[in-house]
Amino acid sequence: MQTMKVAICFVVAMLGSAVTDMAGECDMAGFYLELGCTPVPKADNSSICPDAFTCPDLHPNSTMCYYRGAPYGERSTIPQNLIKNPCSLACRCRVSNGEPQFDCAAVDCVETFNSDLQQCVNTFELDSCCSTGTVCGTDAIAKLKTCDVDGKTYKEGQIFEPLNTRKMCICTGDWNGTVDNAYCRDINCGLEIHYQNKILDNCAPIFSGKVRDCPIGFQCPSTTSKVIRGLNLRSSTAECVFGNLRMTVGDEITVDEKCMKCSCNVPPFVTCVTQNSC
Ligand SMILES: *[C@@H]1O[C@H](CO)[C@@H](O)[C@H](O)[C@H]1NC(C)=O
Ligand SMILES: *[C@@H]1O[C@H](CO)[C@@H](O)[C@H](O)[C@H]1NC(C)=O
Ligand SMILES: *[C@@H]1O[C@H](CO)[C@@H](O)[C@H](O)[C@H]1NC(C)=O
Repeated sequence: MQTMKVAICFVVAMLGSAVTDMAGECDMAGFYLELGCTPVPKADNSSICPDAFTCPDLHPNSTMCYYRGAPYGERSTIPQNLIKNPCSLACRCRVSNGEPQFDCAAVDCVETFNSDLQQCVNTFELDSCCSTGTVCGTDAIAKLKTCDVDGKTYKEGQIFEPLNTRKMCICTGDWNGTVDNAYCRDINCGLEIHYQNKILDNCAPIFSGKVRDCPIGFQCPSTTSKVIRGLNLRSSTAECVFGNLRMTVGDEITVDEKCMKCSCNVPPFVTCVTQNSC
């Protein structure tokens, strides 16, 4: 009976953490959660990582831009307070050749030039895109408090990404090792801002190595794209959509790039991963 209770508590603790850590620990979860998709729970609870997600209609009208569920017509701008990514400024919808996309102001971070050849540390605030301060000189730097995270030491004001979290945090004097909203925020890839038309066209996000990081681009279908049927080991009924092609878990699609593999792993988007050796 006692063991049972402990087991139940353990399961509850696992599920409790599942929600917060899913984006950092599961392939494609951060991507889908940013788009407002919801996880389809696993039937056997065998892992916190969902086999598939259900996405809302991300583009009810293909002549409009969409950001976090809200429509933006030609030439309208996303209010800055709604934007989850501090490096995206004044993003405005443009529809050209029937393809909606956002154009944002260019952000150019000017790092303080180290003129005296003295050592400097650039410091940040949690919601800033560029550094907001500089601490120079060995003595001043030595006085900064530090944070020890995942085997590395950061100085007060520096930014770090704790392993398996998909969060970026700022080292403050009172960091106690907890990934807490007071000094951490979700990493936001600006997917809808940068890839509006690719998402509309059901293209596939391309990842360089880790499928938990932000995608480096999107692969769109071409006239030669073909589905190669694979083994649906998970017997999943969810389908991936790639342009007009539909496929099941385990299937791959042919792409022209030699060093990239695109497959249906976590529907509904196809996942492309670049390979170093091929
Ligand atoms: C999986 O978890 C849900 C909710 O936590 C529970 O209702 C269900 O019975 C569990 N399924 C299995 C097979 O353990
Ligand atoms: C899409 O939006 C445009 C511009 O607002 C509107 O003229 C058109 O009727 C809409 N199309 C549909 C199918 O709702
Ligand atoms: C760390 O600080 C946060 C508040 O900033 C608090 O909620 C949490 O319990 C603290 N954790 C530890 C391990 O002290």
